[in-house]
Amino acid sequence: MFERSKKGEHALLIQPHSGGAPEEDLLEEFADLARSAGASVAAVLTARIDRPNAAILIGSGKLEEVKAAAEASGADLILVNHPLSPGQERNLERALQRRVVDRTGLILDIFSQRARSAEGKLQVELAQLKHMATRLVRGWTHLERQRGGSIGLRGPGETQLETDRRLLQKRLEQLQKRLDKVEVQRTQMRRARVRSELPRVALVGYTNAGKSTLFNALTGADAYAADQLFATLDPTVRRISLASSPESAKAGSAPGGGVVLADTVGFVRDLPHELVAAFRSTLSEAREADLLLHVIDAADPLRDERIAQVDAVLAEIGAGDLPQLLVFNKIDRLDGVAPRIDRPGEERHRVWLSARTGEGLAMLREALGEALRLRRVQGGLRIAPRDARLRARLHELGAVRAEQADEHGWWVEVDLAVADAQRLFAQAHGEPLRPLLETAETPT
Ligand code: GTP
Repeated sequence: MFERSKKGEHALLIQPHSGGAPEEDLLEEFADLARSAGASVAAVLTARIDRPNAAILIGSGKLEEVKAAAEASGADLILVNHPLSPGQERNLERALQRRVVDRTGLILDIFSQRARSAEGKLQVELAQLKHMATRLVRGWTHLERQRGGSIGLRGPGETQLETDRRLLQKRLEQLQKRLDKVEVQRTQMRRARVRSELPRVALVGYTNAGKSTLFNALTGADAYAADQLFATLDPTVRRISLASSPESAKAGSAPGGGVVLADTVGFVRDLPHELVAAFRSTLSEAREADLLLHVIDAADPLRDERIAQVDAVLAEIGAGDLPQLLVFNKIDRLDGVAPRIDRPGEERHRVWLSARTGEGLAMLREALGEALRLRRVQGGLRIAPRDARLRARLHELGAVRAEQADEHGWWVEVDLAVADAQRLFAQAHGEPLRPLLETAETPT
């Protein structure tokens, strides 16, 4: 018996591989993606592709096998865990008489279902239209219009698919313009946040690690958590206090009284590059953070690989060098693991907790406070008269230890949080000043 999804989309999964046994976890993840899109998994086939067939990717013998399996399992959709050229997709659809969607199309579909903010929706639509633009030449006449199913067709609306390229181009330009506008607004909001001088912390992690759940637990907010991949598609940003009680928050025991916490999109292996671009602003929350909370599903047997994969994506978006705190979440699913903080000398500190039960959350606040407080820089810097605002900001922060004025401006000895230093110098375009300060950074 096969489980029928609500929407009735019943997918046959093809996992291509070259030599050796296909990786189990690749397949498992792909099945998760399919379920996230609302399909049920009717059957799974692996296909060895040493020399990819230019016309249909897989070999002709395999094609027959797929056809038979699709018939036998009642699959009305074929999902291929590999990029397909528009021609390959068309040829496969003709041969199989079923809609064929590749990995990128599938992820786009999920994104279109999950995007919540205006910006997220625009970005998904843009990425989808771009993906479809290359496939539009074929027309959509070779396949009967889908009755119920819609994976790979959701989002921009079917009428768009039937319009000609000129209209599509117009729509793309329109979307890009709206998106540019939203991005300007966003930058302004970000500037306002920067002015608030609060350290910024971004939650990052593999999809389903529990970021939204942790975000909710820390903020008390009702963000959306679901046992589906990509529950988070738009950054949600909240201010939180690191103090364990409101009294100590008022007493100012946390740096600046609080931090700005941003939830970000879940990472996934081989995120299609067009999506990395589409979600640039979501990921930029991570890039611009002072500290990353790298959330890990501690009960995941592949957790070490996941950590490496997330680190690789972070490096790709230019966030590889940011300080990180590792959060081993879901300890309630592990036997005999109590909440704790590990502070290995050289390596990233680790906090073991459960976002679901709340055990260990206080320790996370403690470790966050430590990480943000300890990262300070001391040093001297020359401030030119045109950067008088920078000097004024340093004084406001109480960061100035000594100061001398001369005809070139000021020579100032400062001691301040790394986070503050980075923000202030970015504002003042004081690039040459940074190395000077960073040499004096105290170890964490
Ligand atoms: P994406 O948005 O896909 O990146 O996911 P996410 O990392 O934001 O994960 P989310 O918070 O949506 O959680 C995924 C699933 O894990 C949900 O079913 C949560 O209820 C579950 N979960 C989160 N934290 C815990 C935990 O501490 N213990 C247990 N047992 N489950 C948890």
